[in-house]
Amino acid sequence: MGDVFSEFAVMLFLAVYYVIPAYVANGLAVVTGGGTPIDLGRKFRDGRRIFGDGKTIRGFTGGVICGFLAGLLQMIAAPHLNSFIQQLITAYGLNPAISFSAEAIVYTPPLRAFLLALGGLTGDLVGSFIKRRLNLERGRPAPLIDQLDFICFALLFSYFISPISWEYIVILIVLTPIIHLIANIVAYWLKLKSVPW
Ligand code: CTP
Ligand code: MG
Repeated sequence: MGDVFSEFAVMLFLAVYYVIPAYVANGLAVVTGGGTPIDLGRKFRDGRRIFGDGKTIRGFTGGVICGFLAGLLQMIAAPHLNSFIQQLITAYGLNPAISFSAEAIVYTPPLRAFLLALGGLTGDLVGSFIKRRLNLERGRPAPLIDQLDFICFALLFSYFISPISWEYIVILIVLTPIIHLIANIVAYWLKLKSVPW
């Protein structure tokens, strides 16, 4: 019987590691963004913008490319990280089931990284679409939508080729809003964003 705490720590790490391409895509869209908005300034039938000026072609494509590149780095790191985690699992006598999911998560196929990045930024667009329909202007906070739109779609897109088990999904849904808040506060401090959300 492995130590429950170490098992949970390894699972937390693996859950976050799985969605790194989506986190990177979402975060780097802020850096690469600017210029022409995806909706080209057009309005929806309710008279408000489709997505708004915060969703740009450069942000979307730059984010997807950076998320994909992060996945390629993960692929290069995979053999080393996998043997490290497997040693950890043996040393602490953790549940052998973790050993399989660890290997499946650590080896990030390029297609999975691409789908996580594309799904993440598609979810970000869906979130903005909903915010505009709720009459929230660009940049106004929408709790839960802002934090969970990208992760839900990232997991949905990648689910078809490389599903993870529900425990990891639960961990991500709980952890992502926390990570998102911290990342945004840091981005605000670094003056990358004008508001801390
Ligand atoms: N960004 C971008 N293109 C994207 C996503 C983000 O250019 N596809 C950039 C924009 O400069 C945006 C910033 O990243 O202002 C922060 O992203 P986000 O918080 O998602 O957008 P908001 O400006 O808050 O707009 P919204 O209210 O629609 O969420
Ligand atoms: Mg925002």
